[in-house]
Amino acid sequence: MKPTKNSTLEVISPKVQVDDEFITSDYDYQTSHVKRTADGQLQVHPQTTALKIRTGRHVPKLGVMLVGWGGNNGSTLTAALEANRRQLKWRKRTGVQEANWYGSITQASTVFIGSDEAGGDVYVPMKELLPMVEPDNIVVDGWDISGLHLGDAMRRAKVLDVALQDQIYDQLAQLRPRPSIYDPDFIAANQSDRADNVIRGTRLEQYEQIRRDIRDFRERSGVDSVIVLWTANTERFADVQPGLNNTSQELIASLKANHAEVSPSTIFAMASIAEGCTYINGSPQNTFVPGLIQLAEEKNVFIAGDDFKSGQTKIKSVLVDFLVGAGIKPVSIASYNHLGNNDGKNLSAPQQFRSKEISKSNVVDDMVASNKLLYGPDEHPDHVVVIKYVPYVGDSKRAMDEYTSEIMMGGHNTLVIHNTCEDSLLATPLILDLVILGELSSRIQLSSAERESAPWVPFKPVLSLLSYLCKAPLVPQGSQVVNSLFRQRAAIENILRGCIGLPPISHLTLEQRFDFSTITNEPPLKRTKILGQPCSVESAPNGKKVHANGNTNGSAKLATNGNGH
Ligand SMILES: NC(=O)c1ccc[n+]([C@@H]2O[C@H](COP(=O)([O-])OP(=O)(O)OC[C@H]3O[C@@H](n4cnc5c(N)ncnc54)[C@H](O)[C@@H]3O)[C@@H](O)[C@H]2O)c1
Repeated sequence: MKPTKNSTLEVISPKVQVDDEFITSDYDYQTSHVKRTADGQLQVHPQTTALKIRTGRHVPKLGVMLVGWGGNNGSTLTAALEANRRQLKWRKRTGVQEANWYGSITQASTVFIGSDEAGGDVYVPMKELLPMVEPDNIVVDGWDISGLHLGDAMRRAKVLDVALQDQIYDQLAQLRPRPSIYDPDFIAANQSDRADNVIRGTRLEQYEQIRRDIRDFRERSGVDSVIVLWTANTERFADVQPGLNNTSQELIASLKANHAEVSPSTIFAMASIAEGCTYINGSPQNTFVPGLIQLAEEKNVFIAGDDFKSGQTKIKSVLVDFLVGAGIKPVSIASYNHLGNNDGKNLSAPQQFRSKEISKSNVVDDMVASNKLLYGPDEHPDHVVVIKYVPYVGDSKRAMDEYTSEIMMGGHNTLVIHNTCEDSLLATPLILDLVILGELSSRIQLSSAERESAPWVPFKPVLSLLSYLCKAPLVPQGSQVVNSLFRQRAAIENILRGCIGLPPISHLTLEQRFDFSTITNEPPLKRTKILGQPCSVESAPNGKKVHANGNTNGSAKLATNGNGH
């Protein structure tokens, strides 16, 4: 079975079948359930559930509607789609640069697939694992309170090299954002001079207009499916109150009553859900008030967010995981940012900064909670986040972090990181991944392999699979929030692998650690490479591999798995 037409991968397994419509795999889902006994013991019950996973093979023509299309991220995504579609090249001081999708896990990362005969790791591009939307086929549209066409919006953003901008300016100049919902109470007052392209009327009328826009886009462009993604300015948090937005009915009533606390982003999300379109929130505000989440659940439409995890928080979700996992105790994390783009200008207002501060603050919680040897029940590292607007640095955001940890015997370890983020060039590939994985998720369903009558069930409407790409992941009620980047990525990889009948990546590599040839009919590993050069390897009596030079201890220069890992 070849998962995609152009895939270099073919799965040879009786557990996976393919027909015109679906790839279907039989999947043994192994988990461990823990029970706490009265005397504080933990009882672990390993459990295996026989499942079927099926993935629709028909990849739709995807339309993406961006709220905030004319901003730095929106214009950079549009430009990058055009540049990659045309495989553009341009001259820089340092040489010729080609368009690429670096920073996108679907387009520029690979997934471990297994070991070859020599024991070498084999990887394939993530996009070859399952049929996914091709970036070249994505059609973009959207809204912005600033009416500048996309050519001038790209110039205003000052993100891309001028030699690239000049090649695509004319195409982008044909694209103009639709008027949007502007409520000066929700974004910073310093944005008012941009707001020349706005929908008038009550909130209900604005909602109806957004719905008409989605339908209009769908009809004119001929796309099969539309995803709406907020990459507009960060709003202040909306109040959450009983009677206002705690239930779907309350939220709909508040919209109809033109209640001032129904934010523009929540109106966009309501309109998307009503049109059956996945809605993704790339900013930190609480668009997903409880009534909105209920609405998505009632209509079975995906919502995902919040806030792109692009720079400082991404590092934090790696570093704290490493420290706590290593038995080192982070006690103080101080994060400073300064940036000079329009996002920074908006965030210089206290209420909008507060949204970002909240979104950035909880990222270490799950990792801290995972280690009771280091932290008491209410203990938490000091954690502070500062953001300042410094216009001169533009989109080249600086993020400076100091991590102080307690190490053995009362010692301290302090790590200081200076990260120049190039904000929009980090965020844009995440937008691409969010929509590609969001669309793919709508084609994946589970069922029981044991109960014939069991229905096929889709992912829950709160699509937590996209957590890897989000600073403050929204998860279904009752689910655990996972911030650790490694766990988030493993979830994506292993679900994609499961869809084509492959087991989760365990990193056990038992056949490389034990002499398998004595217990199975497998031939012993014959060959491996030193720094890319083939070299003979035989099994030593103690199970260690003996390299050509007789060395068994795996010094830094010796690669036992063929690729230096
Ligand atoms: N690395 C990153 O760039 C990054 C990371 C995480 C989150 N974010 C979030 O993504 C968002 C966009 O970032 P950006 O750098 O592109 O900002 P930006 O200010 O350049 O773009 C935002 C755009 O939204 C428009 N806008 C504001 N309110 C609107 C509304 N109600 N409807 C439609 N358009 C509206 C603005 O006119 C502007 O063109 C911000 O909220 C930011 O916090 C960005």
